[in-house]
Amino acid sequence: MMDIAAIQTLINPDMQAVDALIRKRLHSDVALVNQIGHYIINSGGKRLRPMLLLLSARAFGFQGTHLINLAAVIEFIHTATLLHDDVVDASQLRRGQETANSVWGNEASVLVGDFLYSRAFQMMVEVKSMRVMEILSDATNIIAQGEVLQLLNCHEPNTTEADYLQVIRSKTAKLFEAATQLGAVISKQSSEYEQAMAAYGMHLGTAFQLIDDVLDYSATAEEMGKNVGDDLAEGKPTLPLIYALKQGTSAQQQVLHEAISKGGKEFIGDVIKAIVSTGAIEYTKNVAQKEAGMAMSALTDLPSSPYADALYALAKFSIVRTY
Ligand code: IPE
Ligand code: IPE
Ligand code: MG
Ligand code: MG
Repeated sequence: MMDIAAIQTLINPDMQAVDALIRKRLHSDVALVNQIGHYIINSGGKRLRPMLLLLSARAFGFQGTHLINLAAVIEFIHTATLLHDDVVDASQLRRGQETANSVWGNEASVLVGDFLYSRAFQMMVEVKSMRVMEILSDATNIIAQGEVLQLLNCHEPNTTEADYLQVIRSKTAKLFEAATQLGAVISKQSSEYEQAMAAYGMHLGTAFQLIDDVLDYSATAEEMGKNVGDDLAEGKPTLPLIYALKQGTSAQQQVLHEAISKGGKEFIGDVIKAIVSTGAIEYTKNVAQKEAGMAMSALTDLPSSPYADALYALAKFSIVRTY
């Protein structure tokens, strides 16, 4: 199985081009836009979503134009959601450095997020494809609804696993889905391949967010580049909490109930104990494993190539990752 370094080597020329385009299109005549835009882009990030689009398109032998442009669009949309998400989650650490909202405040972060969203839309129009615009505008709209849905679930201990899954399919998996589906769309593949690639991205993105939610309780800030316990602080009922609440002793249920209702990190010690002792981490990883398995199954009919191998490897990475 390929590792991340091998995948990066495989698509390195494409990714270099994506990075250069991102830098070029970040530009604004308004200094603060440049400053915040470069700050978050230079802080790194795995660039997973543009990688997925590139791999999906190359797996179908795509050789045309617009691929790099669309990969940059996808990363811009992702970056915009991060700027907004860190404001909503009141997060202070991202990609190992202070969040933009900590440095420049919420107002500037929200507005520069809007700049990135709208720049992404300017760039996708340049592709001159109604189908591409339909997929990306639908995805962006679903992401926004997912974030609002999540806001409604915050501080709500009765949130179910199904409610949670609906949130993560929307807020996270949808952009993965759009990225991998677009690889088939711009390569003019059959609707079967288009659907298979969409399913791959959707399951991969779901697995990816499930693991993100595990890491929020089990990783370290150094590994993740984000603070541990941010989800609990916002009273966000992610699957580890939902499962622990269902399986815990009545004393644990009481603590978890209060922790979700109130938010804050006051109960984090007891919450982590409950999550560990009820097997909620294992349970959540298991659900992620199943989603990753479904992602891989969706690739069955893909012609074999190093790009297809890389897509399999990314499904694997999404569940073993620590960052
Ligand atoms: C963070 O995504 C938001 C989630 C969906 C969990 P990534 O973990 O892909 O963030 P970067 O771009 O690598 O920093
Ligand atoms: C990611 O959810 C949401 C989006 C990117 C829209 P999280 O809130 O779990 O992401 P992190 O943990 O802040 O990266
Ligand atoms: Mg967040
Ligand atoms: Mg998270």
